[in-house]
Order: sequence, then structure tokens, then C-alpha cells
Amino acid sequence: MAHVPSPSRYSSMIYNHCGNSGLKLPALSLGLWHNFGDVDSPETAKDMILAAYDSGITHFDLANNYGPPPGSAEENFGKILAIHLKSYRDEIIISTKAGYKMWDGPYGEWGSRKYLLSSLDQSLKRMKLDYVDIFYSHRPDPDTPLEETMGALDQAVRQGKALYTGISNYKPDQTTRASEILRRLGTPCLIHQPKYSMFERWVEEKLLDVLEKEGIGLIAFSPLAQGLLTDRYLKGIPKGSRASKAHGFLKKNDITPEKLSKIAALNDLAKKRGQSLAQMAIAWLLKDKRVTSVLIGASSVQQLNSNLAALNKLEFHPFELQEIEKVLKE
Ligand SMILES: NC(=O)c1ccc[n+]([C@@H]2O[C@H](COP(=O)([O-])OP(=O)(O)OC[C@H]3O[C@@H](n4cnc5c(N)ncnc54)[C@H](OP(=O)(O)O)[C@@H]3O)[C@@H](O)[C@H]2O)c1
Repeated sequence: MAHVPSPSRYSSMIYNHCGNSGLKLPALSLGLWHNFGDVDSPETAKDMILAAYDSGITHFDLANNYGPPPGSAEENFGKILAIHLKSYRDEIIISTKAGYKMWDGPYGEWGSRKYLLSSLDQSLKRMKLDYVDIFYSHRPDPDTPLEETMGALDQAVRQGKALYTGISNYKPDQTTRASEILRRLGTPCLIHQPKYSMFERWVEEKLLDVLEKEGIGLIAFSPLAQGLLTDRYLKGIPKGSRASKAHGFLKKNDITPEKLSKIAALNDLAKKRGQSLAQMAIAWLLKDKRVTSVLIGASSVQQLNSNLAALNKLEFHPFELQEIEKVLKE
């Protein structure tokens, strides 16, 4: 049944310009890496997409291989879109990516023109779309000239199959080169998608400055370190959590006693701010104006709504930031 979206959906969300582009993205975007595959509840998946949309989350992030099985998140998202949000396509930003292994043989992964453009065609078919808004090179390919990979992104835009180009997991120097090539081709790079959270801060060394200089936006993936930066694991590994699932990318041995003691200390600091740890972790990323959007995952509408409330308290006292630094650097 067609969904009737909340008329107030745009009033509580913050929309940020993505780099120097004309495109605005919501401060929170929803990723479909986990919890939208064929192994997951279709009902919960649908409820999360519609709840997100009702709260002003206009951006949904996918990739060819999201599932499991690979491809099923795109298929499921396509179904939800066709049934419930069909007439809202122009109000939604959909991204997909190609880079990781999708099919057998020499053309099923990395960064060749052959792989990227075939994969995009497959993604469009699975989602039943004419175009995606953002098409990413999911990872740099050491064995393909960057000109070829960026040329494929540019070609996707020229074919009308994508509106903007993005790169993910590219190091600072690769980003500068990719940006120069894309600008020369006339399709400037819109966005970079790196892993960035309180626990993963490599972008702070150089990448953030490169993105600012190049006018490229940043969307931070795994902002909650896959659930570690929440209260989820404070009392063990709950049934149904990502770390408890065989196909989950968070492994039990990622949850070390050292990590847990930092999480507990951060949880206390968040409480003092009147926030949950997840909310504080999201706000902490958004304090840097170079961060366009924080790309969260969720396994329930409740988690999603609770994370959205991060937007109610984004500011930090310098003292709070110092305390957080102290815990992270201990
Ligand atoms: N470009 C890339 O290479 C790349 C790589 C990874 C991800 N991504 C993108 O980034 C998106 C987000 O990644 P992510 O799922 O790892 O993000 P995340 O936000 O760090 O982790 C999401 C997980 O944290 C837990 N969680 C969320 N809110 C919670 C809350 N309020 N309380 C307790 N637990 C909570 C849930 O785990 P449970 O399932 O345990 O409930 C949820 O599935 C992906 O969907 C994908 O779009 C991109």
C-alpha cells in the first residue's frame, strides 16, 4: 500500500550542502549494509525505511553486495520503494556502489570500466530504478588505472544512470588524484565515504583537509563502530545483535575488555550530557562542519528514532570534548 509520509518530515532534519555541490544531504542517512537482506525481517526493513523517510532521512545508502545474499538489500529496497514510496522518487537520494566481489571471474570486482558499468546496470535492475543519485567506486583498485575507474563513474553520469559520483575508502593522495581526474572530465566528485567514528579516526590526519580543499562532502560510515559505540554490549553480547550473528561483520573478538572499559566511560560521559552514547557518538561526528552526513545502520525503528534524537543536542562544551579525548587516548 502506498505510504502517506509525514507532512512534517522536513521540519526536524538538518540538511547540509555536500561539499561545494548544490546537493543537500540529511545530517543522518540510513545505510542498508546489514538488516535489509533476505535473511532479515521484511516487515522491520520496510518499517525502518518508512520511519526514516517520515523523519526527514531522504538519503538511503546501498551497494551491489549488501545482503546477504549479495544483491538482496537492493532488491528488497526496490520493492519497498515501488510499493510504498513510488511517487516520492524525486524526494529521495539513493546511492549504490561497486568495488567488492559480486560475481565470479575477472570482471566481478575492483575498478575496471567493465565491472563498474555492468554492476551499475545490475543494481538498477534489482532496485527497478532508471537512475541512482550517487554511484561510488567502493574501494580503490591498485591494478586499474585511476583514469579508467573515474572514467567509468563519469560515463555512468553521462549515460544518465547516475547523477553524481562518489568514492569510498580512498586514501588522501588517491582522493586528490581522483578528484583532479573527475574535475577534468567535467563530473566533479560529490562525496567521499570513509569509515569514521570515535574509534576510527584516520580521516582526521589528512583526508578531511583534502576534502575541504577539493570541495568534496564526507559521509561517515559505521559511526557507531557497528554498535560498539552504544550501550548494546555493556552487559555481554545480546541475542540478535550484530556480534551474535554468523554473517555479521562485527566479530565477538572485536569486543575486547579494553574497548568495553572505554565504552563504559564514554557511556557515563554521554549520560552527563543527557544523551545516550549512540547519540553522543553521532553528535561528536557532526561537530566538524566538513562532515555532511552521518551514515547510520539500525536493526529496529526504536534504534533509528533514538539515534535521530542526537540532533536535539549537537553542541559540545570544550570541557566535554577534552573528557572524551582523554577516554579515547587512554
Ligand atoms: N563504504 C563502505 O565500505 C562501507 C562499509 C560499511 C558500512 N557502510 C555503510 O555505512 C552504513 C552504516 O554502517 P553500520 O551499520 O556499520 O553503522 P553503525 O551505525 O556504526 O552500526 C549500526 C548498528 O549499531 C547498532 N545500533 C544502532 N543504533 C543503536 C542504538 N541506538 N542502540 C544500540 N545499538 C544500536 C545496531 O546493531 P544491532 O544489529 O546489533 O542491533 C546497528 O545495526 C552501512 O549500512 C552502509 O551503508 C559502508
